[in-house]
Amino acid sequence: MKKNSDVKIKIIELTKKINYHDELYYKKNYQEISDEEYDKLRKDLTKLEKIYPEEKLKNSPNEKVGKIDSKQFNTIQHNSPMLSLNNAYNKEEVRSFYEKTFSMLKKKFYILAETKVDGLSASLRYENRKLIMGLTRGDGAKGEDITRNLKYIEGIKQTLPEDFPEKLEIRGEIFMKKKNFEDLNKDRKLKGLHLFSTPRNAAAGSVRQLDPEVTRNRKLSFYGYTLLEAEKYFGGSLNKTREILMHHNFSLNHPSMFCRNFDDMIKFYDQVNKIRSQLEYDIDGIVFKLDSIQDQKRIGSTSRWPKWAIAYKFPAENAITNLKDVVFQVGRTGAITPVAILKEVIIGGVKINRATLHNKDEITRLNLSIGDTVSIQRAGDVIPKITSLVKKSNDPVKIRFPDICPSCKSKLYFQKGEAAIRCLNHNFCKEQKIQSLSHFVSRNAFDILGLGDKQLRIFWKKNLIRSYSDIFTLELKENNIKEKLSSVEGFGDKSIFNLFEAIKQSKTIDFDKFIYSLGIRHVGQGVARAISRKFNNVNKFISYFLKLESNEKIEGVGNVILESVRSYFKNDLNLNEVKNLIEEINIQYIKTENLKFSNKVIVITGSFKKYSRKEIEQKLINMGAKISSSISSKTDFLFCGTDPGSKLQKAKKLDIKIFYLDEVEQEVKN
Ligand code: IVH
Repeated sequence: MKKNSDVKIKIIELTKKINYHDELYYKKNYQEISDEEYDKLRKDLTKLEKIYPEEKLKNSPNEKVGKIDSKQFNTIQHNSPMLSLNNAYNKEEVRSFYEKTFSMLKKKFYILAETKVDGLSASLRYENRKLIMGLTRGDGAKGEDITRNLKYIEGIKQTLPEDFPEKLEIRGEIFMKKKNFEDLNKDRKLKGLHLFSTPRNAAAGSVRQLDPEVTRNRKLSFYGYTLLEAEKYFGGSLNKTREILMHHNFSLNHPSMFCRNFDDMIKFYDQVNKIRSQLEYDIDGIVFKLDSIQDQKRIGSTSRWPKWAIAYKFPAENAITNLKDVVFQVGRTGAITPVAILKEVIIGGVKINRATLHNKDEITRLNLSIGDTVSIQRAGDVIPKITSLVKKSNDPVKIRFPDICPSCKSKLYFQKGEAAIRCLNHNFCKEQKIQSLSHFVSRNAFDILGLGDKQLRIFWKKNLIRSYSDIFTLELKENNIKEKLSSVEGFGDKSIFNLFEAIKQSKTIDFDKFIYSLGIRHVGQGVARAISRKFNNVNKFISYFLKLESNEKIEGVGNVILESVRSYFKNDLNLNEVKNLIEEINIQYIKTENLKFSNKVIVITGSFKKYSRKEIEQKLINMGAKISSSISSKTDFLFCGTDPGSKLQKAKKLDIKIFYLDEVEQEVKN
């Protein structure tokens, strides 16, 4: 049993913390901690208050839903409290919600699953089918009057259809589409204004503007999800309500799913989680709601949330943490990249303790110092990045860029027009060499399983792999290797055998992948593909760039690339290295002459059923085609899907052969 004075201190501390973070969130529109951390504070406090109700403070956050800033806007009483949602962070918490609902209803029920829009909630009141008032959530009981700001928000109707009820309240979410958020920040950057860290913060900052003109220029949107006291008209079911609203052209959040059981709910969550980055608006989870309004009423609410709904949050992709240090990495082309060392946080179940900072300009743009609190973001498998400064440290330490290469100690240079600082010791800088080897064996290059950065460093140290060709002559040194690696963990006979197998298999390589694997600056996969189509012999490729003997240009290869490839081969070490490499491998060239659409110029328009435009494009390129984005006399064919636009007319005018949807899908089938 805890001592009462300990409990008191803990309660004061938690109350203070929560009130501080509420203040930031509701008044200043930003966060210093993640939702998950915030929920943990709330849970801890609620638990203590339950056991020791006599210690509960007057200003306990559990007495309120949110905070309002009455200095700026008029506050008005809500018709009924605007509640929050209870959160679930794993499947078991959702299952427990499902089972509790069943135990309360004791009969079959359905759940409507919707995306959880990451914006700020608002309530719209209509009388005689005219919009008369709009309020923010405020503290849940009273909201701020934002009526004047609602005029220009996409998705908010000023008048309702004629047959709608005379009195209606629509509750929903005001948010900013991702595209509009990016445009807004681009514009603010040009004007030297501070940038918003998320679309949610931008939306909140834009709604709570006293000048409605500012709101108008910010391009906000609204999705409605709750209708008050209107079940007669809307059929008493959330799903039916959605149908009726859609029929009347209301903008609703998509996708949604009518769930018949728990498995349906989880299926929907997983599906949406996979495609969420493709939605045009930010979501932070899925909301599950009991479909029948009558059943909702039976179950009721707590003071903070309805018991008939739960929000299953996605693993946070943003988190807030501390910048502990900045280290400097040398890339394969010598660029020095600052890397942030962070206080470890977990984002979406993954431990994050590093983030890229790109270059010096990025650090200046973010105004970062060591010790600052920062917001970080992880998108899919991409390296996390710092998106904004959340709070300056009280004792900030300036980030100092090195003058000499952290790996080879040679002097670093800034080159005109470039953001990166570079080590120019391309031939002998160890880190550049190791990074080049890493790139060489990576998935889109030689793709050698079991040979990654970690193993390459060991082989480097033991003087077994120092160049590309060393990889392919490794097996000749088998005895030597076994001896040298006998004491290194993870290099038993079996794994060495597997590695030799993987190397053998990688020896046959497509020409474009070969070009890409060399890691020449400015030669990514696309450029490598463009170059590969031009040659059917690797020596011709080298001499083209070395001598520039023919004046014939390669489509997609401009002067910068040309110069970069040329200077790569002008370096004797590189040239010899590539020559040695060629001896060891087997390059496969594209036989352009025999391909179905060799050198045909094709334009694609409209959308297709079975494939995305990108997929069709890729398939056609593999069949030798050149893809162009506009119709001209040089166009050979138009590949036309549904909703084609003006290109179809133009092609008809110019008498260009057109392949329609089914024909297109037939052509690219294999
Ligand atoms: S239903 C609380 N559906 O999330 C009453 N809410 O974090 C039932 N939200 O206060 C709300 N998308 O502002 C519902 N599809 C959705 C939602 C949604 C976002 C908001 C809402 C709520 C907050 C809780």
